[in-house]
Amino acid sequence: MTRIGILIGSTRPGRKGDQVARWVHERAARRGDAAFEVIDLRDHPLPHLDEPLPARAGRYQHEHTRTWADTVARFDGFVMVTPEYNASIPGVLKNAIDYLYAEWTHKAVGFVSYGADGGARAARQLRALCELLQMGAVTPRVSLSLHTDFEDHATLRPGAHHVNALETLLDHVVARSTEGRTATPTQRETDEAVIRRHIGEVIDAIRAKDLEGLRRLYSTDVVSFDIDPPLQHVGIDAKLKNWANVFTFFQEVTYEVRDLMPTVGEEVAFTHGFGRLSGTLPDGTPAGGMWVRVTFCFRKIDGEWLITHDQVSVPLDILSGKGVVDLEP
Ligand SMILES: Cc1cc2nc3c(=O)[nH]c(=O)nc-3n(C[C@H](O)[C@H](O)[C@H](O)COP(=O)(O)O)c2cc1C
Repeated sequence: MTRIGILIGSTRPGRKGDQVARWVHERAARRGDAAFEVIDLRDHPLPHLDEPLPARAGRYQHEHTRTWADTVARFDGFVMVTPEYNASIPGVLKNAIDYLYAEWTHKAVGFVSYGADGGARAARQLRALCELLQMGAVTPRVSLSLHTDFEDHATLRPGAHHVNALETLLDHVVARSTEGRTATPTQRETDEAVIRRHIGEVIDAIRAKDLEGLRRLYSTDVVSFDIDPPLQHVGIDAKLKNWANVFTFFQEVTYEVRDLMPTVGEEVAFTHGFGRLSGTLPDGTPAGGMWVRVTFCFRKIDGEWLITHDQVSVPLDILSGKGVVDLEP
């Protein structure tokens, strides 16, 4: 059955958010076309975002992130309940959203906001944020006024028209979530995920100094325009020699990749992003490394995506003729 999470966007003591979420849940539970559950951010006391990699990389380091990701991943769609704080959404809600990416994308979402003017500004910003995450934001919404929908500004007593608006919002969220749940991912989406995982395996193999693991990720005829001379490194053995040099240079090595943007065709794919090698030198000195631009090009060979070309570069300072190595993405 389609599962819809009703997310409470505020956590402060004395919040009204739980009253609003309870109202949404109570109305939703009468329907029977989906299973509804309240998600309370108080049950997920996330620190200010502390993941080293952006959520798009999907490689969460902390237990609290994995628990949060597992919770969000269980749902096919969401109703987000948000108050308006200083013309925006609460920081705690923004932080919780920022922690994840794939767990949100392509899922339906509807908004129930509240505030002096129905929390309209918060709802608008939340919609823009969810659209950025490629969520399917439905048009119907519910806006509750602190003046007219809360008795003594304290106890929720929504007008009848809000019940109708909520039903319409739920109709849309449930329909869209059910559609999304039953749709099979397109070949492009599957291939994009494979490309991301492939880069994840490159990262893992580098961190483990696993040359044989790396060998499996490139084509035998790979042409690498790596950062160091000569102009090109042709063939898998030349490429692995480069990695072997890196592994000698670093005692412990780590590799980060940010902002991967795969573009996938039937037999050819590419992705660009920013990469940084860092670690400790053999004498134990930490080496912070530098951010470089990196492009990976793939071909599908016998049904398997392999890196056939990579390009690593830093911008050039034209006047001095030197590479610029202190830029950050
Ligand atoms: C920090 C803060 C800022 C607020 N700013 C706004 C605002 O810009 N517009 C508005 O309509 N209400 C504003 N309010 C009032 C809240 O919308 C109202 O207190 C609401 O109940 C808060 O949600 P909560 O009780 O779930 O925390 C603000 C409240 C707080 C705590």
